[in-house]
Amino acid sequence: MKSIVVYASRHGCTEKVAYLIRNILGDNTDLINIEKINLTNVDSYNNVIIGGSIHKGSIQESVQKFCSNNLDTLLRKNVGLFLCCAMEDKYEEQFNGAFPESLREKAIVKEYFGYEIDYERLGFFEKIIMKKVAGIRENKFKLNKENIERLAHFFDDK
Ligand SMILES: Cc1cc2nc3c(=O)[nH]c(=O)nc-3n(C[C@H](O)[C@H](O)[C@H](O)COP(=O)(O)O)c2cc1C
Repeated sequence: MKSIVVYASRHGCTEKVAYLIRNILGDNTDLINIEKINLTNVDSYNNVIIGGSIHKGSIQESVQKFCSNNLDTLLRKNVGLFLCCAMEDKYEEQFNGAFPESLREKAIVKEYFGYEIDYERLGFFEKIIMKKVAGIRENKFKLNKENIERLAHFFDDK
């Protein structure tokens, strides 16, 4: 069955994850960065995996718009939802704010994928926020491969 991973990524962490999922599911799976390309044929997919990252409390607007603009169609699909974010204690709150309630209820799998902070990729103000607000002063590579694989394998037989 046809699958697609729809994602948005600011500094490449979520993009890395999207490619990992595609590698597990195989070349028949499409991959689209919703920040750059407007997906118009959602209905031609059976499985739609949607993810983004949290910055200053919110997921990318492009992901929010994709979900709300295609909500009726998505509610008829096998949907997987995932999030990359650093504050694990706020994960649930941030996840609930990221995706519409009906989609969260309909999703067959929802996963927290961890996060990455790579100082080489951050802008000037982002570095200040990381150091002063979040207290993170060095690179962190904390992706959860187990959760990524678990989500992907939900779609093995779909
Ligand atoms: C400027 C900035 C703000 C962030 N704000 C949050 C936040 O509010 N909550 C959170 O859990 N993580 C926050 N993060 C962590 C990101 O969600 C994490 O680094 C994620 O892996 C980024 O993925 P991306 O590169 O795909 O955008 C922030 C990171 C940066 C650089």
